[in-house]
Amino acid sequence: MASYVRAEIVEEVTEGGFPIQTGTLGPQAVDIQSLYARYGLLAYDPGYRSTASCKSAITFVDGDSGVLAYRGYPIEQLAQHSNFLEVAYLLMFGELPTGEQAVRFRDDVRQHNLLHEQVISFFRGFRRDAHPMAVMVAVVGALSAFYHDDLDIGDPDQRLNAAIRLVAKMPTIAAASYTYSTGRPLRYPRNEYDYAANFMQMLFGMPNQDFVLDPVQARAMDMILILHADHEQNASTSTVRMAASSGANPFACIAAGIASLWGPAHGGANEEVVKMLMEIGRPENIPKVIARAKDKSDPFRLMGFGHRLYKNVDPRAKVIQETARKVLAHLGLENDPLMAVAMELEQIALKDEYFIERKLYPNVDFYSGILLRAMGIPTKMFTAVFAVARTVGWVSQWLELHNDGTHGIDRPRQLYVGKPLRNYPVGR
Ligand code: CMC
Repeated sequence: MASYVRAEIVEEVTEGGFPIQTGTLGPQAVDIQSLYARYGLLAYDPGYRSTASCKSAITFVDGDSGVLAYRGYPIEQLAQHSNFLEVAYLLMFGELPTGEQAVRFRDDVRQHNLLHEQVISFFRGFRRDAHPMAVMVAVVGALSAFYHDDLDIGDPDQRLNAAIRLVAKMPTIAAASYTYSTGRPLRYPRNEYDYAANFMQMLFGMPNQDFVLDPVQARAMDMILILHADHEQNASTSTVRMAASSGANPFACIAAGIASLWGPAHGGANEEVVKMLMEIGRPENIPKVIARAKDKSDPFRLMGFGHRLYKNVDPRAKVIQETARKVLAHLGLENDPLMAVAMELEQIALKDEYFIERKLYPNVDFYSGILLRAMGIPTKMFTAVFAVARTVGWVSQWLELHNDGTHGIDRPRQLYVGKPLRNYPVGR
């Protein structure tokens, strides 16, 4: 297990008289809530590089040491020994479930995995070539028009019910977004399968034949879901929390999270990685791409490289790379040209001064696309798979915000750099 020791605890009050808050792990935080009231000054931190936007007890990341833990459990151990629904329970409720709690939770999720038949009719309104993420944003947002009994966010039972509904329905919605684009009939969930396997049967099953589950691929999908389940206050999670802070309904909050996740700097990167590797095509073309990534006049970035927090190897990337190798071997794809290009690219980048200086390592998306592609998941579904997994993190953070009840509306300030006040030119 990774050992992690907090850096020395500094004084409890800064020279300016601001209290210092100390968490369980990670850097301490200067509490500047009274800064404006006392000094008329704002803190300027675009991109929140030095800002703790909330207190949270869910996920811990130490990017310098490459540590990621859900409720204290290192991600490597969860990926190896747990399963997605157990991890979902852990994230949502704080502890691993007892046997009885696990069965009840699984049954609750199964009970809610169907879509209202009128929700299904929404899919037909989209163009067949619509991106699954576009469809997911819309359909998840539309759920708020169906579950009026879950919209009282002041009621803890309704909050929990909405959270479970979202976790339960997300694979059904994601799979339907895909099957609709192929022209195949939408598949219903099947409760004899576990969460990940059920997602796969909805993605790939055909109505005219039995679905044959490959346990190796189902386990790989379960692990992909575990690895992507939460990642503390990333862009999409912060989006969910900000929407939640206004009291917005849970379905609208998660729809906002999906929209944020879609961006290529966030969850959309796995799709971009595969596009990039395909464009590179052969190892001989790698130096050109590295040169482009280093060229400051070129907006191109090496997709799947770098992370705001990880200045060391992303622990998820290690697990994914290993699983990708196993699944490729299982499928007889040991010589997958994309994998060969990715491994060569990683080696070259890791020895390059530009990437070393900036501490740019492969992130979770670098190998996840190769794995998903090998499993037959089409490129445009990659981020949708990420969204299915991250829904658990989003609802856990959403529950935490509301269960705490002390977090008011998020309302950042700004440094105004526009025109000074001026008179409207009357009669111009
Ligand atoms: N390729 C080339 N240069 C890079 C890259 C990259 N992938 N990432 C960062 N840099 C450079 C950047 O140009 C800057 O250089 P300089 O100091 O000379 O101006 C320096 O490294 C620091 O970059 P930054 O933009 O300040 O870093 P950030 O923390 O704002 O951005 C990031 C993090 C993930 C958005 C960025 O590394 C990136 O765009 N990576 C590619 C997209 C990607 O793989 N995203 C998936 C992230 S992991 C999954 C998830 O959490 O959603």
